[in-house]
Amino acid sequence: MFGRSSFVSGSVAVVLALITLVSQANAFWRLPCLNTILVERNDPIVNPGTVSGHLHTIMGGNGFDFTMDYEKARASTCSSCTVKQDLSNYWIPSLFYRAKNGSFFPVEQIGGATIYYLQRRDPPEEKLKAFPPGFRMVTGDPWLRHNNIVSGQGDAFTYICLDYSGRSKGLKDRYNEFPDRNCPSGLRVQIFFPSCWNGKDLDSPDHKSHMAYPTNVNFGKCPTSHPVRFISIFYEVIFNTNAFKDQWYDNKQPFILSNGDPTGYSLHGDFVNGWDVNVLQKAIDTCNSASGVVEECGVFKFFERDRSQDCMVPPRVEEQTTGWLEKLPGCNPVQPGPARAIQHANCGAQEDIGAPMKYYTDVSAKNWEYVGCVMDNLNSRTFPERVDFNDLTVEKCIDYCVSKGFGFAGMEYSRECYCGKSAPPQDRMGYSRCTTPCAGDSKQYCGAAQRLSTYKAKGPGSGTSDTP
Ligand SMILES: *[C@@H]1O[C@H](CO)[C@@H](O)[C@H](O)[C@H]1NC(C)=O
Repeated sequence: MFGRSSFVSGSVAVVLALITLVSQANAFWRLPCLNTILVERNDPIVNPGTVSGHLHTIMGGNGFDFTMDYEKARASTCSSCTVKQDLSNYWIPSLFYRAKNGSFFPVEQIGGATIYYLQRRDPPEEKLKAFPPGFRMVTGDPWLRHNNIVSGQGDAFTYICLDYSGRSKGLKDRYNEFPDRNCPSGLRVQIFFPSCWNGKDLDSPDHKSHMAYPTNVNFGKCPTSHPVRFISIFYEVIFNTNAFKDQWYDNKQPFILSNGDPTGYSLHGDFVNGWDVNVLQKAIDTCNSASGVVEECGVFKFFERDRSQDCMVPPRVEEQTTGWLEKLPGCNPVQPGPARAIQHANCGAQEDIGAPMKYYTDVSAKNWEYVGCVMDNLNSRTFPERVDFNDLTVEKCIDYCVSKGFGFAGMEYSRECYCGKSAPPQDRMGYSRCTTPCAGDSKQYCGAAQRLSTYKAKGPGSGTSDTP
């Protein structure tokens, strides 16, 4: 699904021309992040402890929080990125479509993200360092609305107009702003982070100045002010802009970043280190594959795909972020520039951090309780009895299971109700993405595809005691 990006092959040619230490200089791996863990106005780097200015699309470990440090990241119990020893977080602004009437609709993020870990060295014998514990950084400027690329630094923020059919061949496919044409296979947002460190600060007041780009972003030497070279990281995130291909109007592209930017120049990215630092250093020192295939790096262990896909953080800011919106979440009026955008505040946006959203219903009145989000499998069902209801609710399924003498009830994929006599096997427990509304009550949750919102009868005489 994720081909080698054009920038990688381009730079490979450059590097080949420059040096002969091919395998070392070209070494990299692609870290697959299979899903977004959260879309929320949350940015523990820029706005710690408060609701942040605009919506972010966040990947990585589920330790992610409004306030977080290295220990919090390391305490994650899952990550949407598949390498087990990496519990970092990676985030970018969310993307919206703006309709002619001024309403907004979120553009679906597809396939998670790919984070490239690139072993760029200059000179070729340069020693690359792993990010230290507590390290974090931001790149890009949310207030920028014009092209201010310094010569040779055009690789930092780019958009690729994807067309897997090849029909757009010959057209420009790489942009520093939002493309002015539809992208049939989606819009790929790309961010190259700076890799040169000042050697002492884990962060800085603007979250940027402890880091600097090498001469050409993607290759070249570090400046003397920032002499320590980290491994380079590069994000690729794809948005399904093609879903709006028939809804362009007024001869301009209709997409807008969550911070109110219709140009694309304000693209920015954030990184919080959650690596087992020794493992990252070992990977840098020993993983020389030029294929990018992450499994070829022997020091990595992996989460089961299913667990990474499922990993999520429940939102805590009570505001609408899906469906048609009258305005962008937060105080983010559309500011097309070219002047820098101005910060807006006090527009009545939600500023409270609430309790984490609950994806289950209190059924204590029935003397039942929530067990958790449980994995189901089409070929081997977790619970034996099934009945479908077009108006399924949590209570309806429980009542049915009770009437048949079962002590466990599970709701799946909106309208499926399952009953069982015994607890689900341990290896199917501990999932979290039971986030599909029930067919009979959109305020309740009835599992998801192959996920069961699972409840059980409390106390003696319940189904648990029937287990032989
Ligand atoms: C704006 O237009 C979209 C369709 O283009 C529509 O679905 C939405 O309801 C409209 N919003 C308002 C406030 O009229």
